[in-house]
Amino acid sequence: MNLIKKILTAQVAVLALWAVSAQTVTAATVSPQEAAIAERIKPVGQVCITGEECKGVGAVAVAAAGPALTGAEVVTKYCGACHTSGVLGAPKVGDGAAWKTRAGAKGGVDGLLKSAIAGINAMPPKGSCATCSDDELKGAIVQMSGL
Ligand code: HEC
Repeated sequence: MNLIKKILTAQVAVLALWAVSAQTVTAATVSPQEAAIAERIKPVGQVCITGEECKGVGAVAVAAAGPALTGAEVVTKYCGACHTSGVLGAPKVGDGAAWKTRAGAKGGVDGLLKSAIAGINAMPPKGSCATCSDDELKGAIVQMSGL
């Protein structure tokens, strides 16, 4: 075997070892560092099925959400960007009549909450507050509409 072949063989062996060790990260003996790496490089999307335990996702969501924001805080941080001046036809903060009409058409505050969560036309889902809970969004709607 010539020298180049030897070098190549050694490299393949190293690669193979590396691949094996990378795969064993999910084994029972996972160090905190390996677990942290696995957490960082895991696929972005995770499917949870209603009624079944959704491992890890609940904890992540709670950690990301942090303490609850008041309706006013959510409006200041997120909704106000459009709803203060009525950008793109957004119902304005404090325009009780506009909000009342919408609430009437959608079945009250809960109906409005549904379209706020899903997004509606130019408004992004959750009004751009991806970490907001339903309660926080509802608080913001109540704050803006006075309903
Ligand atoms: C990027 C701009 C934008 C942001 C940010 C935004 N909205 Fe909106 N919102 C709109 C627009 C535009 C509409 C009107 C959509 C339509 O009816 O065509 C709207 C409509 C709504 C409605 C009425 C829905 C309906 O069914 O009539 C609710 C409720 C609402 N927004 C809540 C929120 C909340 C809560 C936030 C903050 C968490 C928020 N929005 C942030 C643009 C925005």
